[in-house]
Amino acid sequence: MKNLKLEIEYRFCQLDELDGQEQELVQKAISATANSYANYSHFHVGAALLFDNGKMMIGANQENAAFPSSLCAERSAIFAAQSQCPEQAITAIAIAAKNNKGLLEDPITPCGACRQVMLEVEDRYKHPVRVFLYGTRGIYCFDSVKDLMPFSFVDANMR
Ligand code: THU
Repeated sequence: MKNLKLEIEYRFCQLDELDGQEQELVQKAISATANSYANYSHFHVGAALLFDNGKMMIGANQENAAFPSSLCAERSAIFAAQSQCPEQAITAIAIAAKNNKGLLEDPITPCGACRQVMLEVEDRYKHPVRVFLYGTRGIYCFDSVKDLMPFSFVDANMR
């Protein structure tokens, strides 16, 4: 028997350490929290996508009285983007969240379902998606969704 170890490399940085485009993406995620409909959880999440042509698109979580009918910010953004411009590869996503005390101090970390959908984006466009998880204390930056999802399941695993 062998013990194996996984190592994940990511960065912790401040907003002003990101380049201009990345800062704009994070700012868009923060402002997208205002578009959240979180009548039940009162947890407002914003996501901003960057496309390979430099354009950006936002999403926010949308809740429903029938709880499972709700959708997270990340999937709201991704599904809207892929419905409107399926030819554009998504190259980065920024996520931010607010609770009743304001913006989260520690970086928001996406749920498993959103990680799976983000992974499919990488697989679909054959392009890594950089991930920026915002907190007022700082930002976690990942070079690929794979770093957030070890032992992931993609199309190739069925072949
Ligand atoms: N939520 C997101 O939108 N993204 C996440 O990464 C975590 C959770 C939403 C779903 C629900 O509307 C609320 O936050 C509380 O779970």
